[in-house]
Amino acid sequence: MDTLQDTTVSGYGAFNNAPSGTKNAIRLVTGEPTTLPDPATCRVAVVGLGYVGLPLICGFSAASRSIGIDIDANKVDELKHNNDRTGEVTAADLAEADAEFTTDACAMNDADAILVCVPTPVNSRNRPDYSPLLAASRSIGANMKRGAVIVYESTVDPGTTEDKCLPILEEMSGLKEGIDFYLGYSPERINPADPTRKLSDIKKIVAGSSPVVTDFLEQLYSRVVKAGLFPAANIRVAEAAKILENTQRDVNIALMNELMALYDKMGIRASDVIAAASSKWNFHHYRPGMVGGHCIAVDPYYLVDAGRRHGLSMELVAAGRSVNEQTPFFLAEKLEELFESKKLRLAGKRVLVLGRSFKEDCPDTRNSKTYKMMDYLWAQGAEVYNFDPIAEDDHFEGGRGTEIIDDPFDGGAYHAIIVTLGHRVFREQLDLQTLTTLVPKGAPLIDMRGMYDGEEVHDHFTYWRP
Ligand SMILES: NC(=O)c1ccc[n+]([C@@H]2O[C@H](COP(=O)([O-])OP(=O)(O)OC[C@H]3O[C@@H](n4cnc5c(N)ncnc54)[C@H](O)[C@@H]3O)[C@@H](O)[C@H]2O)c1
Repeated sequence: MDTLQDTTVSGYGAFNNAPSGTKNAIRLVTGEPTTLPDPATCRVAVVGLGYVGLPLICGFSAASRSIGIDIDANKVDELKHNNDRTGEVTAADLAEADAEFTTDACAMNDADAILVCVPTPVNSRNRPDYSPLLAASRSIGANMKRGAVIVYESTVDPGTTEDKCLPILEEMSGLKEGIDFYLGYSPERINPADPTRKLSDIKKIVAGSSPVVTDFLEQLYSRVVKAGLFPAANIRVAEAAKILENTQRDVNIALMNELMALYDKMGIRASDVIAAASSKWNFHHYRPGMVGGHCIAVDPYYLVDAGRRHGLSMELVAAGRSVNEQTPFFLAEKLEELFESKKLRLAGKRVLVLGRSFKEDCPDTRNSKTYKMMDYLWAQGAEVYNFDPIAEDDHFEGGRGTEIIDDPFDGGAYHAIIVTLGHRVFREQLDLQTLTTLVPKGAPLIDMRGMYDGEEVHDHFTYWRP
């Protein structure tokens, strides 16, 4: 084993003091593989404290003090004050968690297991953007201690962990995987805003660089997952399984969206069709909708890119993405059509859009297709107002010209309403009677979730639902 400097394995002092973000030039003498930490009590660090990372750190801190690291200083500050902007963990969870939140990557020195939960977005051309993952790997490589187990949880195309991240870990640390540290992958399957399926209720896939590491991961994650663990054949299989799950969903919703458009032209309502087809035992229940967020609407692009590298065009996956990207325009054009059916034009009309987060009861607005729809409506000359009391607006997503309002009554009277999501707050506070006070008789109401479907809705509205 090569030695750049004669340091012995006992005592990690020199390595631990490596400044964060710098390449560690000191190589430790490696010999026998280091022993894995005790999975029941080992100290866990979580890198990336978002929707995925926060529930993990809260769970792992029950057995030993955990370390949470994020590059977003504001977020770290909020967490120190027990405030989770994602709404995934409560203030009480954070107050109870025996966890240290920091932006200082050196804190990883103390961790026996480091779980990586950073974003895996696409760039403006829908190509994978690995930069957060690679930056996190550099930071971990520069700061991890010998004997640590590094587990990636971010959703990636198969091969990313071993071919892209591992070389960085080894280069930055001067350590060797399988001898000085260990590698694993365990895809996250949490379902944000779903109170019935939390981290501990969802079976988790684990895969290590060797069967021994996989065993370790099974024991480690059993600290936080009660629904059971699934040991995958290897890291690539685990990566491939997660991205398959999300792509399957995207492609199936695309089929519903495409048929929604066709059936609509035929005067057939997609929801009636789905209800009828669902009466067969093997029909898979999906419904049309705008596919946003940074998972389902993003992950298939990683597969399309992987296909290109292997000389495959991934036509079905790419087509699914392309169909789903069109849905916001279909809805905007539907509104135009409803106005035209009354011999009216969309231009100049005041349109109230209810909902702008990408998912029901979830504050996340990232990649929400509602912005695309609102941009299009605005470009056609409509005055667009958006009301979504739970959306977290911490970045610019789009919505040119859209006025965000804090109360649906703030914008005065409207000419049309589009309900994009069935947030609980809408169901509880905006009943049909309330909506009728916002628009004149005959006004279009597009109801993506069928919340207002029923005989009475036609008394006041020109109603459409998929
Ligand atoms: N949100 C979900 O529902 C969900 C479900 C399953 C899997 N995933 C996957 O998990 C991963 C994380 O998703 P998320 O929703 O938690 O993302 P998120 O954006 O909510 O959180 C990621 C956090 O990582 C931080 N970060 C970015 N670069 C960093 C770095 N170099 N070092 C330290 N922190 C860094 C960000 O500041 C952010 O706080 C993604 O790959 C996503 O596809 C997400």
